Amino acid sequence: MSTLASVQWADELAAWAIDPEILAAAPESPYGFPPEVFAVGQYPTSSPMAELAEAALRPGGSVLDVGAGAGAASLGIVPGGGHLHAVDSQPSMLRALEAAARDRGVSLTTYDGTWPALADQVPVCDVVVCAHVFYNVPDLVPFATALTTRARALVVVELTGTHPLTRLAPMWEAVHHQPRPDGPTAELAVAVLGEAGLEPEVRERVIEPVVRTGALLDTWVDFTRRQLCLPPERRPEVEDLMQRHPPRPRRSVVLSWPGAG
Ligand SMILES: C[S@@+](CC[C@H](N)C(=O)[O-])C[C@H]1O[C@@H](n2cnc3c(N)ncnc32)[C@H](O)[C@@H]1O
Repeated sequence: MSTLASVQWADELAAWAIDPEILAAAPESPYGFPPEVFAVGQYPTSSPMAELAEAALRPGGSVLDVGAGAGAASLGIVPGGGHLHAVDSQPSMLRALEAAARDRGVSLTTYDGTWPALADQVPVCDVVVCAHVFYNVPDLVPFATALTTRARALVVVELTGTHPLTRLAPMWEAVHHQPRPDGPTAELAVAVLGEAGLEPEVRERVIEPVVRTGALLDTWVDFTRRQLCLPPERRPEVEDLMQRHPPRPRRSVVLSWPGAG
């Protein structure tokens, strides 16, 4: 009997669990994201996600961003006179988003919490976007179903072709002498959506690595060190590993399907 794609998805994500001994020895949590790294402007202005969302929006329209982070995917697409609803489980992200929305004059409501648990508290919006969140979500069917029910016109999801932590795998192996998994993939996400009755249109492209300099590069190195469960004094070793394993171009996959809200 073949395994359900949704079960395989959850199993492949679970395989990323950090060895309890390594986690216990980590001086800081390897989880959580630095808001600066996810600020608006980190992505190219013209992306399939933005183009699809903008085509489905009218002046005054509403956007819901799930796992919004600091708003990189959504702040630029809210139409004039429109409104952004943003959900995130990491409060520091939403505080950064509030500051960025104030600077840009974007009207915003934030929801601190976990999707889909708080989906009922969020109004149906014209377009729902969700960028770089799927690999954080083991139970993808109810997550995606709730995106659909909160979208009037369109849902647009972006994810990398493979798990974002695969970039760390050679560094992890050098430091901890343990292999890392390589699944799941965007193709498996599409299969899971199929089990939820969703048939997304798929657009794929290759994106060049983000070039970070100055304070942003410092933040990125510290983020990588923390993800590798290493203490601050081993930062030079992390810098060296990052030079030996530079980021490579990645597949970006954009999935879209009609809303049902
Ligand atoms: C990699 S960041 C991407 C942020 C933003 N969408 C972007 O593209 O820059 C993932 C974000 O999703 C949030 N997140 C992950 N799972 C979530 C869930 N189930 N509900 C709400 N937020 C979630 C995290 O807190 C984090 O801010």
